[in-house]
Amino acid sequence: MNRVKLKNSQRRNSYRILNGLPFDVIRQYGQLAFDKWFNQLVLGDNLIVLKNLLQIPQVKGKVRLIYIDPPFSTNQTFRVGEKRTSTISPSNQDKEAYVDRLRGKDYLNFLRVRLSLLRELLADDGTIYVHIDYKIGHYVKVMMDEVFGKNHFINDITRIKCNPKNFPRKGYGNIKDMILFYSKSSEYVLNEPRVKMTDEDIIRLFPKIDKYGRRYTTTPVHAPGETRNGRTGKPWRGLFPPKGRHWRVSPEELDKLDQEGHIEWSSTGNPRRIIYADEKIRKGKLLQDIWNFKDPQYPKYPTEKNLEMLKLIVEASSKPNDIVLDCFVGSGSTLFAAELTGRRWIGIDSSKTAIEIAEDRLKTIKKASHPFAILELTKVDL
Ligand SMILES: C[S@@+](CC[C@H](N)C(=O)[O-])C[C@H]1O[C@@H](n2cnc3c(N)ncnc32)[C@H](O)[C@@H]1O
Repeated sequence: MNRVKLKNSQRRNSYRILNGLPFDVIRQYGQLAFDKWFNQLVLGDNLIVLKNLLQIPQVKGKVRLIYIDPPFSTNQTFRVGEKRTSTISPSNQDKEAYVDRLRGKDYLNFLRVRLSLLRELLADDGTIYVHIDYKIGHYVKVMMDEVFGKNHFINDITRIKCNPKNFPRKGYGNIKDMILFYSKSSEYVLNEPRVKMTDEDIIRLFPKIDKYGRRYTTTPVHAPGETRNGRTGKPWRGLFPPKGRHWRVSPEELDKLDQEGHIEWSSTGNPRRIIYADEKIRKGKLLQDIWNFKDPQYPKYPTEKNLEMLKLIVEASSKPNDIVLDCFVGSGSTLFAAELTGRRWIGIDSSKTAIEIAEDRLKTIKKASHPFAILELTKVDL
């Protein structure tokens, strides 16, 4: 995407949120029109920026999906150019990325206020994913129950983050972290996420092979519950459904299935429905709550998350053109996933290094759906 050069005079006060604080446009890609949507990458403390977003009617209560990956209270300083980090520009070598020093109740309070603001920004049918580690994650779960309501807790997703480690440790190797998934209300967007079946899955789920070499499995043609008067309680081919059960479909439909070769009869005359592997493979299998998405081996940012995982989250929990928000952007993985899948996005980070890396990544997208701007809170001279 092409950068639009701005004169110094154009930068100051060029964007003022209704009743809110003024922001400078630091850089822009594509032509901005302030009455039309543009994607935003904001440099600053997310507390101030989230409060400002709550002033914008097009954003407050309109965000369909939030993914955040905050610091994990590790008491560490993270640098770009360390160990497994590859930089996209040599000037980023060994730059400080961010400092993660908040501990205990200070950390939890830091997160609590932000989660409360994020809840306000979410659409009624929106959801939030909070990526966190196994040390602090359980405290965060209790706090999220408080902010979003225990009844809006959907999943604690186990994410396999790396290969097993073989160095000695008094304890079990830690190869997972967690993603806490909550909704704002009981009605929320979720596009049934499916993943490809592996060869092992196919052999396990479809253990039988017919005379043409087609893999298949069989399932009962009846289900629990007795129906005395309905058609699914009537005899089929002289057989009644077993006691306390009814046919899954009407006798006419069972006839049709049999004609199409979808019923297997046992030697004792017991019918079962045939499910062929090749008819199911294309659809994939439903994703469960253990995910295997290892982080990049040579990340652009020290805590960069797996892009495929973020694309999955974005596609599962939002629709094209929805607003996706990440207020701990880092290298911009969420925003990149949102842009690639045709969503609108807002990102915030207090680290200049993070903003530069996310910007470098986002501007590589050739056909962006909207222009985007790098914004910073206007500095007021006292
Ligand atoms: C774990 S990293 C996020 C990594 C990101 N998910 C990725 O894929 O690259 C956490 C980020 O939160 C940012 N951060 C920490 N405190 C913040 C605050 N108060 N406001 C905005 N950003 C903050 C840090 O600068 C850091 O970039």
